[in-house]
Amino acid sequence: AGLPIVVAVDGPAGSGKSSVSKAAARKLGWSYLDTGAAYRALSWFVVQRRLDPTDSDAVIDALPDFDYRIGTHPDTYHVFVGDHDVTDVIREPEVTAVVSAIARVPEVRAFLTGLFRAIIAHGEKRGIVVEGRDITTVVCPDAPVRILLTADEQVRMARRSAELTGHSAAHVGEALRRRDAADSRVVDFMNAADGVITVDSTDLDFDQTVDAVIAVVQKETHV
Ligand code: CDP
Ligand code: CDP
Repeated sequence: AGLPIVVAVDGPAGSGKSSVSKAAARKLGWSYLDTGAAYRALSWFVVQRRLDPTDSDAVIDALPDFDYRIGTHPDTYHVFVGDHDVTDVIREPEVTAVVSAIARVPEVRAFLTGLFRAIIAHGEKRGIVVEGRDITTVVCPDAPVRILLTADEQVRMARRSAELTGHSAAHVGEALRRRDAADSRVVDFMNAADGVITVDSTDLDFDQTVDAVIAVVQKETHV
């Protein structure tokens, strides 16, 4: 069968990575991998164990016990840590608040990168859309399709605030800006690396963004 065709998608929060990658995978009949879910699930695990998320040695010591599983179907993927279905809880603000501290530990990144490559290698579909922050540069730098999905900051903040209730837009915007700033000190997902194609969704609606991504996939792979 050989390795699946990888479509690597990186970008900042609110650029549309998850929703657009999922829809593109669905249209292509391919798999989908949300790598942020693993960073979030590990953060949940660290909080659950009452470890200090900023204590990198404690986090590294916990890695061998981190039993992580994720589905790759774009419509019905669930996230498990051991027997716990953490699909929803990993989106909670308490988890989001500590994820950048976990994600900056090099041993954590190496561990999860290995996990992602194993999941990709075991894929049964012809291709897989893999979405995150360092997919085009670290996880799958040789992918035949590498995309940086961007949008102006104002637009990204507005999209994310529109999804939430009970939080002021200003609060959401500030938390997101802080997370992007912390994350971009570790990996550069604001500038396209050599050979990475930028898709700017600032002036595109959702369907237009999905079409733009599919067009890049078709151009690069002739599928
Ligand atoms: O969807 P959203 O933009 O809120 O974030 P996410 O993709 O779920 O990622 C959550 C966090 O995981 C990010 O803020 C990064 O700290 C980390 N992450 C990472 O470091 N590398 C990746 N490839 C994916 C996520
Ligand atoms: O994963 P990431 O944080 O990059 O973004 P997302 O959670 O997929 O997208 C954030 C929101 O923006 C979602 O509600 C999308 O439907 C919306 N979106 C949009 O309104 N227009 C686009 N061109 C792309 C995404």
